[in-house]
Amino acid sequence: MELTIEKIVYPGKSLARKDGQVFFLDEGLPGEIVQVMNVQKKNNFSQATVFKIIQPSHNRILPKCEHYKICSPLQYIDYKEQLIIKTEQLADIFKSFTTNPIAIEASPDSFGYRNKISLNLLWKSKRAFLAYNIRDTHNKFIDINNCFLVSDNLNAILKNTVQLINKHKHKEITGVILRENSCGKAHLTIDLSSEKSLDKIKRTFTENTIPNLLGVVALLKKNDFIQSINIHGANFITENILSNIFSIGPLSFFQINTAMIELVCKDITKNVSFKNSDTIFDLYCGVGTFGLIFSKQVKEVIGIESETANTSFFIKNCKDNDIKNAKVVTSKSEDVCKQLKDMPSNIIIMDPPRSGVHKNILKTLLDARHMTHDTQLIYLSCDPVTMARDLEILTQKYKIHFLKAYDFFPQTPHIETLCILTRK
Ligand SMILES: C[S@@+](CC[C@H](N)C(=O)[O-])C[C@H]1O[C@@H](n2cnc3c(N)ncnc32)[C@H](O)[C@@H]1O
Repeated sequence: MELTIEKIVYPGKSLARKDGQVFFLDEGLPGEIVQVMNVQKKNNFSQATVFKIIQPSHNRILPKCEHYKICSPLQYIDYKEQLIIKTEQLADIFKSFTTNPIAIEASPDSFGYRNKISLNLLWKSKRAFLAYNIRDTHNKFIDINNCFLVSDNLNAILKNTVQLINKHKHKEITGVILRENSCGKAHLTIDLSSEKSLDKIKRTFTENTIPNLLGVVALLKKNDFIQSINIHGANFITENILSNIFSIGPLSFFQINTAMIELVCKDITKNVSFKNSDTIFDLYCGVGTFGLIFSKQVKEVIGIESETANTSFFIKNCKDNDIKNAKVVTSKSEDVCKQLKDMPSNIIIMDPPRSGVHKNILKTLLDARHMTHDTQLIYLSCDPVTMARDLEILTQKYKIHFLKAYDFFPQTPHIETLCILTRK
């Protein structure tokens, strides 16, 4: 069957129509004529796979890697066109809030921008291979020799690591996570299936230096608990953002595209008025990235974060940056609604997971009587659809002052969006 692609809808499916039927395809640029197979009928639409491009778009380019469809499915689209497609998707998602186009800030690097890579280590015929676990599956993997989303430096460290593991036959190592900072220094975390060869593994990484590797930590799963074991060198990595030093542990959350964090912070600085009498509530604060960067401009910062792997580094980051007006509470954000309701706070940062802000927090932000016209909400989201859902609620009492997207994840369908709201 031949279809003409109409548009690419969020999060990344190509839409075509024929005889009143809607088709969602795995690829295809607007205007392209494609031949499809594996048509699967659902209730209101059909899904199909493109197997031949009959008439290609001038925006179609050669993908850099063979397995792009699994992890970076927009690689076949010229980067400028990726940004145009995302702008159109944003206009559609936020159409009930604005008819103005929503700008998207390009990533300075469209490849090699990721500061972290996590891969499985599969053992075949007594040799270890790096493999990517296909999303939403437990047992489907593809072999990875090189990843274009991380730097050449990180790829070189990956190769050296696998060579070392192979040379010493450390079959207990089942996965590797590498993070890199802006100075090109890296930190390695290894997943262990057992601790039986721990001493040998420690010896391997101590006696053999991998260039640019600052340290190695092992993670061992014990029932529901993950034990972190220092293998060699540093057990965290540091990154400098706008003259603040952030230490990030093996299990900490940190934004993937470091260059984009600074661009978001610069837009926040331009569009939020910070006063030295303000209190910032930084909900979903991670290791403190946003709250701590703005701490010098306000009276105090209260971070709320559910994972100790993040809050322990929030505390370290306060100490290392000599920040004395910030504290963190290890709690689910939705469990501090009472404090949020009782404690006057003029600025609330919210950077939730994909699922969006908890409904009890949204309700508190509408109901709290002390939230006056100088209350400002800074909402950063990695899923514009859940953000738009939350904005439907928040705009009952707040107005949108600033809305802009940032391409944190080039070559993928994901979009990061920042919305700043003020009390009506
Ligand atoms: C998108 S990250 C943002 C982290 C931080 N703002 C940053 O930019 O580095 C979301 C964070 O929320 C935390 N988290 C997830 N669910 C949570 C909840 N219910 N309450 C508090 N924190 C939560 C995660 O551990 C993660 O650190």
